[in-house]
This record gives sequence, C-alpha cells and structure tokens, in this order.
Amino acid sequence: MAYNLLKGKKGIIFGALNEMSIAWKVAERAYDEGAELLLTNAPFAIRMGDISTLAGKTKSQVIPCDVTSLEDIENLIKKSIGIFGGKFDFVLHSIGMSPNVRKDIPYDHTNYEYFLKTLDISALSLHKILQTCRNLDAINDWGSVIALSYIAAQRTLDRYNDMADAKAILESIARSFGYIYGKEKNIRINTVSQSPTRTTAGSRIDGFDSLIDFTERMAPLGNATADECADYCITLFSDLTRKVTMQNLFHDGGFSSMGMSEKAIRQYEKSFEDRNNTDFMDFIDTQKFCCKRV
Ligand SMILES: NC(=O)c1ccc[n+]([C@@H]2O[C@H](COP(=O)([O-])OP(=O)(O)OC[C@H]3O[C@@H](n4cnc5c(N)ncnc54)[C@H](O)[C@@H]3O)[C@@H](O)[C@H]2O)c1
Repeated sequence: MAYNLLKGKKGIIFGALNEMSIAWKVAERAYDEGAELLLTNAPFAIRMGDISTLAGKTKSQVIPCDVTSLEDIENLIKKSIGIFGGKFDFVLHSIGMSPNVRKDIPYDHTNYEYFLKTLDISALSLHKILQTCRNLDAINDWGSVIALSYIAAQRTLDRYNDMADAKAILESIARSFGYIYGKEKNIRINTVSQSPTRTTAGSRIDGFDSLIDFTERMAPLGNATADECADYCITLFSDLTRKVTMQNLFHDGGFSSMGMSEKAIRQYEKSFEDRNNTDFMDFIDTQKFCCKRV
C-alpha cells in the first residue's frame, strides 16, 4: 500500500546490487511512494549485478560511482543535480564490504591494508558523500540521509570481524555530520541498525545461518526483513520524521533490548538434552557435590 509519502521528493540510492539488496527494496518502495530516483553502485557491481532491471522498474538513471573515489562521488553529485534539475531531498547509503571477511582472515590476524579498505568503503564513504554534497550545496533544507548499520557497532558478535569497527565509525560520522548539517540546513542524518538479512553482503559473514536463527529466537517480533527495513527508511525520508537526527535507530524486532528469550533458552536446553556430553554431566555432578558440601 502506498501513501504518497515521498511525492515531489528526489533521492540517490547507493548499493542496490540485486533484488536481495536492502537498497533494492528501498528504491522500489521509494518509487511507489512517489519519489524520483537516481541509482548508483561501483562499476564492477553494475557489470555483475542486476541494477538495470531496477532502473527500468523505477524509471531511474544509473550513474557508476566507486565510493572510495572522491572524483567519482563529485561526478555523481554534479550529474545528479543536472538530471534532477536542482537539489535533491534524500540519500540512502547502503554500502558495505570487507576484504578481510571475503578472504576469511580472522580479526586477530587482520591484514591492515584490507582493514583500511573496509573502513574506506563501509564508513568513510559516508563522510565523503556528505562532505561533497555540502560543498556542492546539493541537498534541500529538511533533507534526510540514512546509512545502514548493524548492532556489532555496540556489541561484540563472533566473526563479524573488522565490519564491527566500520559500523562504529559509520554511526559516529552520522552524529558528527548530523550536527553540522542539522544546524546549517536542518538536514537530518541517521543510521538504521538492521536485523541480519539474507543478502549478498550479509551471507558472506561466517556462521550467518546460526546468527539469523539466534536473533529470530531472541527478538520478540522476530527478525526484520529487507522489505520491512525499506518501509522504515521511507518514514525517515518523509516529512513525518523531521526532528529525528543523529540517531542510531534499531530496526531489529527488539533484539537489541533482549538478554535471553524463552525461545532461545529452549533451544539451548535442547542442545544439552541432545548431546551425550560427559564433560557437561561431570560438571553438573561436580556442582551438585559442591552444593551438598556447602
Ligand atoms: N544483510 C545484513 O545482514 C545486514 C544487516 C545490517 C546492516 N546491513 C548493511 O546494509 C547495507 C547493504 O548491504 P546488503 O545486506 O543489502 O548487501 P548487498 O551486498 O546487497 O549491498 C552491499 C553493496 O555495497 C556495494 N559496494 C561495495 N563496495 C563498493 C564501492 N567501492 N563503491 C560503491 N558501492 C560498493 C556493493 O556493490 C553492494 O551493492 C550494508 O551497509 C550492510 O552492512 C546488512
């Protein structure tokens, strides 16, 4: 169901690779809500992915941009102003990549060149985009910028690797730039911390199937899907949320506020029942023995 929430608004969507991408869902939803869009991704992703299908569906143009290149970003923003015939209203940063994750290099054996690449692509790119937009005065007053984040910025999650550090920096950039752009132009900048979602980037994390099962059991509302994330982003691009800025907004079915849930504890108990683990039984016996002694 569409409500024309973005009627008359224009925006740039970074990071739609294929129809599983969160950015893809946001673009479809924004188009349905009346927005005029411009799509962008790295040149290799445009060649490998399906972005032209999305461009057809949303009647948008595609402009290549590798977000590590300031030159590419400047070219994109200048061309966008030309195509839109002026400033635009919203930006979605939906970009993440870690060469260490891709090459299965664990956090405690990190390759520092790759680490810097992770930070450049996944976090500094937000700063580069914002600084370029500000220099070119490209975003309308009361515009809205969203970057997608993950709870590994606050809590340690096994095997999330250097992406955790990238997300922590990303969220900090949203606050620091949110202050500057807010006081000057009333432009709001937020991060949306999304549940684990089955996408190309998400599925690269080692142990992803177990993680998504765990968070589904822990969150009282269950994991948020990519479509639900898109719905949420639309509200943040709309005029209904004009005073929300510099926030990291959890969109995770309540996972971030949980300690332990009934569903997760049941599964944990089941694993005890299922296994014939003598160490565990020995441990229980020891505890009983100790308790009797006390
Ligand atoms: N999938 C999840 O579980 C999950 C959970 C929380 C947050 N997120 C975040 O959501 C965002 C989108 O990821 P996704 O899950 O939709 O996966 P995705 O693989 O569909 O999107 C990642 C995008 O980053 C783009 N990208 C990589 N390097 C780039 C570069 N140099 N220049 C420009 N673009 C580049 C890719 O081409 C791709 O389109 C990421 O920031 C990710 O960390 C994902």
